[in-house]
Amino acid sequence: MSSFIIHGDVFYTPEKDRSVSRADSYLVVADGRIEGCFDSIPDKYSSLSLLECGGKLVIPALYDLHVHASQYQFRGLWMDEELLSWLNNHTFPEEAKYKDTEYAEKAYEIFTRDLYTSATGRACIFATIHRSATLLLCGMLEKLSMPCFVGKVNMDRNSPDMLVEDTDESINETLAYVDEVKRRFTYVKPIITPRFLPSCSDRLSRSLAAIALREELPVQSHLSENLSEIEWVASLSPDSENYADAYRRLGLLGSRKTIMAHCVHSFGREEELLKNSNVYIAHCPDSNTNLSSGIMPVRYFLDNGYKTGLGSDVAGGVSLSIFRAVTDAVRCSKLYYRLVDSSFRALSFNEAFYMATKLGGSFFGRLGSFEEGYEADVVVLDDSSISSAVQDLSVAERVERYAYLESSKPVVHKIVGGKILF
Ligand code: GUN
Ligand code: FE
Repeated sequence: MSSFIIHGDVFYTPEKDRSVSRADSYLVVADGRIEGCFDSIPDKYSSLSLLECGGKLVIPALYDLHVHASQYQFRGLWMDEELLSWLNNHTFPEEAKYKDTEYAEKAYEIFTRDLYTSATGRACIFATIHRSATLLLCGMLEKLSMPCFVGKVNMDRNSPDMLVEDTDESINETLAYVDEVKRRFTYVKPIITPRFLPSCSDRLSRSLAAIALREELPVQSHLSENLSEIEWVASLSPDSENYADAYRRLGLLGSRKTIMAHCVHSFGREEELLKNSNVYIAHCPDSNTNLSSGIMPVRYFLDNGYKTGLGSDVAGGVSLSIFRAVTDAVRCSKLYYRLVDSSFRALSFNEAFYMATKLGGSFFGRLGSFEEGYEADVVVLDDSSISSAVQDLSVAERVERYAYLESSKPVVHKIVGGKILF
């Protein structure tokens, strides 16, 4: 069913400083696209079926621009280290297990089930270097009608023996992976995924950039997350002016639509290079806190037109919930304002919600808002179990409270691309 009406309390953010709240109204979806939101059902839509959600919150689905499916099994563990030792001591050994497709199947079943039932509509996902396991993950997402970008990770240097590829093998496996995903799946799309500069040789990086260009694929990677990582990149790419410039020289910045996770330390170093560069920044505040990476000056990027969405970065982040990323983004921006630079105003809830919906959604298409013509990605939430003596909250206040309290109730309905998943 891709034409229907949802009755409930509607909220969305067409602009970072503006929201639309409509209690007790009717959101009309025709052929998978938003027609509009009305006080009563217009005559011309009277034959459409009604999804009755009176008293519930009806909002755009959220977008996760950066998540490691292969790290979900150790979420909430091993948070006492910083990035590079955390990767070596915990993350790489866990990811090596995905060579075993039986393990991968069990683990990815858990990940996909939890992603499916969450408020996330679409996600950009890192798997591991293993083609077979990554295809298993794609197959599970496809079966659930979840339109995600999934990357087979590339790593051919500075990685442990159990998790490293020969350069030609990495290129050939990527080509085979891209071909198979394009052939077999419609919801799931491939994305070129050099893990980060230290784990990819120049030859591998250049080849991956060429594949992205030729196959017209987006790219995802990590940029300027941690100070030791940045120093390491400077020593690996001594001729580059900065980390972003090192990617640019390899063809991995600017030629295709690219998501760079983190950019915690890009401001003052490489922000000019990221400007107008086809780059989406995936801001991952929970991960930045857990791995002591730093506080991202998100105010600068948001106010200066950078496409800055949100990511969970599981398992640097502990939760798949993008509500959690929304409120963490607000919290971290307050710390930046108070501790680093008081000219960088803290994010408002509206701004962070806008990043999670309309800004992040624009990576995937015309998504993340209920303006006319937007593709219908919608979630319905029940906040009635939040006990409080406070009455008469506005719809916007109820959405904010739901996000902060991560209400114990599961998502009631999820609609993606006009299809009612549940
Ligand atoms: N940089 C390279 N790999 C990773 C990873 O798996 N997680 C995070 N947070 N940063 C990375
Ligand atoms: Fe990451």
